[in-house]
Parts: sequence; structure tokens; C-alpha cells
Amino acid sequence: MKHYSLADGALSVSAVALGCMRLGGKSPAEADRIIKTAFEHGIQFFDHADIYGGGACEELFGQVLKANPSLRDGMILQSKCGIRNGRYDSSYEHIVASAEGSLARLGVDCLDVLLIHRPDALAEPEEMARAFEKLHRDGKVKHFGVSNHNPDQIELLRRECPFPILFNQLQFSPTNSTMIDRGINVNTAFDGAVDRDGGVLDYCRLHGITIQPWSPFQHGFFGGVFLGDERYAQLNRALEEVADAHGITPTGAVIAWILRHPAKMQPIVGTMNPDRIREIADAANVTISREEWYAIYRSASHTLP
Ligand SMILES: NC(=O)c1ccc[n+]([C@@H]2O[C@H](COP(=O)([O-])OP(=O)(O)OC[C@H]3O[C@@H](n4cnc5c(N)ncnc54)[C@H](OP(=O)(O)O)[C@@H]3O)[C@@H](O)[C@H]2O)c1
Repeated sequence: MKHYSLADGALSVSAVALGCMRLGGKSPAEADRIIKTAFEHGIQFFDHADIYGGGACEELFGQVLKANPSLRDGMILQSKCGIRNGRYDSSYEHIVASAEGSLARLGVDCLDVLLIHRPDALAEPEEMARAFEKLHRDGKVKHFGVSNHNPDQIELLRRECPFPILFNQLQFSPTNSTMIDRGINVNTAFDGAVDRDGGVLDYCRLHGITIQPWSPFQHGFFGGVFLGDERYAQLNRALEEVADAHGITPTGAVIAWILRHPAKMQPIVGTMNPDRIREIADAANVTISREEWYAIYRSASHTLP
């Protein structure tokens, strides 16, 4: 598994991360197997959020860590905060309290990374920066980032924040590729030219912010998995062809497609199936060709001008 060196070498992260949103409801033995399978296959970055399973996902992960304390060595733990019942909350008090809640549930002293989960319309960047400073000063969080933020929102935060914004988690897959479509369709009247994110892909590359694609196998907004879905027959055929050519699976081909983009994105996969985790880890070592990348892109009903 390749790693990316971030924060001037202070942070080394596996190119693929395991998202723990769907860990709730698993037994401790299943959770143990899922986490160890990921770790053994080089996936050492785990993504959480205070709200996943209402806190149950972090708690279960914490149980596994408690039973296997050495797992924490070399593991990168990320959590997110700011989504509450019916509102977003990036206030100083909530950011600090939420991060402390994640630490307690995970049973660790320090989060490697904390992200602001969604842009809060009432956010005060100065307050957010103050919360980051407190958590960092208290040794509770090492690095910071955002999720679902556009460039202007990140700029507002960067103006106040003494720490680099290292990550921006965004939905991205062959079927949800608006941030790429916009660049391909510049100055045309095609739908792909519509600016939905303020140019977040190029912005993140310019500022050394790693994009973490979430839901890399889902179509729509949690519309279901496009793999094996007959509405995406052409995409599935293209993924199978690439998979066959490289000795990986179609699931793996999606990850190889994301990793082929030069932005060095870090997909957050949500499978809780150990076999799929292995398929994904294998695919992270494969570099697909330019022709294969474009064939998958076009097969997801994207046209080139
Ligand atoms: N920042 C945000 O706003 C945000 C939003 C959503 C998610 N996230 C993060 O992103 C992570 C991934 O999200 P996600 O779980 O929606 O993404 P995903 O990896 O696209 O989807 C995983 C789900 O698809 C199922 N699946 C069925 N067939 C599959 C196949 N062939 N290959 C892979 N998965 C298959 C998996 O089931 P099995 O378990 O049975 O394999 C699992 O339920 C989350 O855990 C969370 O950490 C962040």
C-alpha cells in the first residue's frame, strides 16, 4: 500500500482509508476482524465521526483497541464533528466537546486528525480556529481538516487558523465526478461545465489539501452501489475489462481509477466485508493507463467535448 507524506513529513497516511460509518451493529468479533484485515493489508487510516451510529461506531472501535492496544501504533485515527440533530454546529464549545467525546469513546488520548464535517451557515472561522488551538495545545488533536467545504469556506478558515488544513472530504466516484466534469467542460454550454464547488479540485491541489473521496461506490446521494446495477451496465463492463487486464476485481478497479488521478486523493471506503477490503488493498498497488481511466470515465455517461 503506498503512503502519502503530508504536513511536511509529520504525517504518513495510507492511500486508502477505511470509513467506520457502517461499523455500528457489528459484533466485537466482526469489528476486530474488519479492523485487523484493513491494518494487515496496509490500510492504517480510519475515518470516524461523532455521529456514526450515534457514537456506537467509535465505541465499538474503542473496544477493539482496548483489547489490542498495540494496534494504535502506526494507526491514524480521524474523526469529524459538527453535525447535530437538525443543525450544523461549528461553535467553539461544540468542536471541543465533540472531539473530547470521540476521544472518550475511542479510548485514546489523541486524535491524529479532526475534520469539520459540513459547512455550518453560522460558522465563525475565528471560533473554529480557537477550538483547534485549544485541542492542539491540550494534546488532544494533532492535525485538522474539513469535509464538504468549498474553496472560499476553506480560505475563511485558513485566514484565522494557525494550522494547515490538510484534508477535505468530498463525495467522488465515476458516477459522482462533478469536480472533474467542470474542468473537462470549461467554457462550454454542456451540463458538465456547471460549477458546483468553486473549483475545489484545483484549489485543493494548489494548497496541498488531500481530497478524501467518500462513498466511492455509491451513485447519487447514498443512492446505492453502482457495481452490479444494470442501470450502470456500461460502467460495469468497463470496470470488468480494466479489472481483468490487471488481475483485480471491479471493486478494485474503482479504487485504481480514483488513485490514478494526479491529485493523490485518499478514498474512504465503507465496506465492512474483509474480502472486499483485501480486493481494495490489492488494487491500490495497480496503476491503470490513461486510456483505461478515460474509458471508465466515459462509460459512466460522461461525454468529452
Ligand atoms: N464526509 C461525509 O460527509 C461523508 C459522508 C458519507 C460517508 N463518509 C465516509 O465515507 C465512508 C465510506 O462511505 P460509504 O460506506 O457510503 O461508501 P462506499 O464504500 O461507497 O459503500 C460501502 C457500502 O457499499 C456496500 N457494497 C456493496 N457492494 C459493494 C462492492 N462491490 N464494493 C464495495 N462496497 C460494496 C458495502 O457493503 P459491504 O459492507 O457488505 O461490503 C457498504 O455497505 C464512510 O464510512 C464514512 O467514513 C463521509
